[in-house]
Amino acid sequence: MKKLKLAVLVSGSGTNLQTLINAQQANELPIEIVGVISNREDAYAIERAKNANINVAVLSHTSSGKRMAIKTFEKHALKQLQEWQADLVVLAGFMRVLSGDFINACPAPIINIHPSLLPKFKGLDTHARAIDAGEEEHGCSVHIVTAELDSGQILTQAVLQVADDDTADTLQQRVHQLEYQILPFTIAMIAKGVFATDKAEYLDVQQGEIVAECLPRLPWKLQLG
Ligand code: GRF
Repeated sequence: MKKLKLAVLVSGSGTNLQTLINAQQANELPIEIVGVISNREDAYAIERAKNANINVAVLSHTSSGKRMAIKTFEKHALKQLQEWQADLVVLAGFMRVLSGDFINACPAPIINIHPSLLPKFKGLDTHARAIDAGEEEHGCSVHIVTAELDSGQILTQAVLQVADDDTADTLQQRVHQLEYQILPFTIAMIAKGVFATDKAEYLDVQQGEIVAECLPRLPWKLQLG
């Protein structure tokens, strides 16, 4: 099977990136990570990519004490993605909001892993907000990135039951474990063509529209925790 060329955008620790690196190295996924872009020069994800001999572009948002405007970041990132010829862009803990212009101009579809059961808890502090809201279920979602934050077509969700003694910290750890399963699973489905990668299909699709007659409606919900 032709390998899907992934570009991964990161801002932090990069444990999801590491899961993808491990899967690539073990030949468990038909992927080739062609490059990693970090908007922070102190992101540990950079070390992970370098250790795996993956191209890294650091487009720091605070280089020389000045904040890089998002437009400047996007201009450099687009050039990089074109050069790497990525088939799919994966936001894995990438903490800047990308503009509609970037998303439209991006040469490949973009997916994001978000730590909540969207559409609940868009944005930050998802675990604390889930606890405060008394949620019985929580988890994470992989969705198509559109101009509206955390609102594009949801492809997959991994669900866990919130325990009485869960805190925001324990939930974060438990959800992270689910992320390491659902992100590679979703990428495998994209690589196999089960989820289309044509951006236009997702931009027009309605939530819950049938992907194919014989398949479940989106999002696919997996009880993993
Ligand atoms: C994950 O919880 C992801 O859902 C969120 O940012 C976190 C990234 O973690 N978008 P890591 O950098 O992959 O360890």
